[in-house]
Amino acid sequence: MSQQAAPLQNRHIVLGVTGGVAAYKAAELTRLLVKAGATVDVVLTDAAAHFVGAATYQALSGRPVWTALWDDRMRNAMAHIDLTRGADALLVVPATADFIAKLVHGFADDLLSTLCLAKDCPLLVAPAMNRQMWENPATRRNIAQLASDGVTVLGPASGDQACGEVGEGRMLEAHEIFDSLLSSFQPKWLAGKKVLITAGPTFEAIDPVRGITNSSSGKMGFALARACQDAGACVTLVAGPSPQSTPMGVRRTDVTSALQMRDAVFANLKGQDIFIAVAAVADYRPAKTATQKIKKSGAKLAVDLIPNPDILAEVAALRKAPFCVGFAAESTNLAKYAEAKRKAKKLPLVVGNLVQDGLGGDTNKVTLFDATGAHPLPPADKASVAQGIVAHMAGLLKKK
Ligand code: C5P
Repeated sequence: MSQQAAPLQNRHIVLGVTGGVAAYKAAELTRLLVKAGATVDVVLTDAAAHFVGAATYQALSGRPVWTALWDDRMRNAMAHIDLTRGADALLVVPATADFIAKLVHGFADDLLSTLCLAKDCPLLVAPAMNRQMWENPATRRNIAQLASDGVTVLGPASGDQACGEVGEGRMLEAHEIFDSLLSSFQPKWLAGKKVLITAGPTFEAIDPVRGITNSSSGKMGFALARACQDAGACVTLVAGPSPQSTPMGVRRTDVTSALQMRDAVFANLKGQDIFIAVAAVADYRPAKTATQKIKKSGAKLAVDLIPNPDILAEVAALRKAPFCVGFAAESTNLAKYAEAKRKAKKLPLVVGNLVQDGLGGDTNKVTLFDATGAHPLPPADKASVAQGIVAHMAGLLKKK
């Protein structure tokens, strides 16, 4: 789920529900949309009402629920047109095989199918069906046709199905559909670009149970991965130990130590347009890792530390380096240190923040340092800060 408090403030979403057991997830999605600030109008087909009834959606959306073409609550009796006028998106969740076939052929024999035909906003559908129905050539043709008609098809996922079978056709989870909707609203600044990001801390083992690490939640790096993905990029994330969940569509490689992070970065570097080093890489590692647990004794213990390679500096020094972005987390003299880092590592962009403003929390206050000077971004949640960084980066790339 997005970290922004009300990312759908002032958005009007029409949520169509068709008759599948995954309708219970549509109820959850309604709650997520409303919580994010959206105004949600729910439209049920007759079959949908057999699974989760109108009262549930009315309670969750706080608005009347629409079910019939002949509803006289709309003053001009034109619910089939008026509901999507001014709407930002029409979502069909779940979309059954039957409803998808209707969409492809332009049928308009109930309120929801008529709305889909008369819509004046983007249409997103989340298919849900048995795996054989999904693999049926008729469904394959219909899905291809929907995509070429400009409809966004979300999922489906693979896994356990309500019918007891296992396979593709299971509907995405409510939070995944929610994230996809948010993503659809983002400008595609990085369309066609490949982005490699490091995030989280590294952990340098002293023995099998002990080690040294940096304090880093990974939140900023993961928010950036999400923002780049939403901006249309193809994103690879190399993550040190972090509890953050992988944004949809992002390819993630997990590593532990700085040396592993370096190997993973170089293994994935070919063809990358942008490299963003957000990771809090440990500057030193133990010269030797003990294979057995070091036993406690009353005596002093010294651990010999040797420097780790600077991954960002190595990438930035390549003859054909991607556009490199560094981070500078400082406790004082931010402008001086961040600018020194930008010059030393020859980076087009450094994102600087004071550790007391961002470390571990959900918000951050950053300043962007590039060849033209310092550009502070307003303090905000990390998702919004990441979007601001992506916008600035895209502007620099355009000028290149
Ligand atoms: O020099 P300093 O460690 O403060 O630079 C921070 C920037 O360099 C961050 O972007 C960080 O991800 C990157 N870095 C790296 N490899 C290291 C140390 C830092 O990529 N060993």
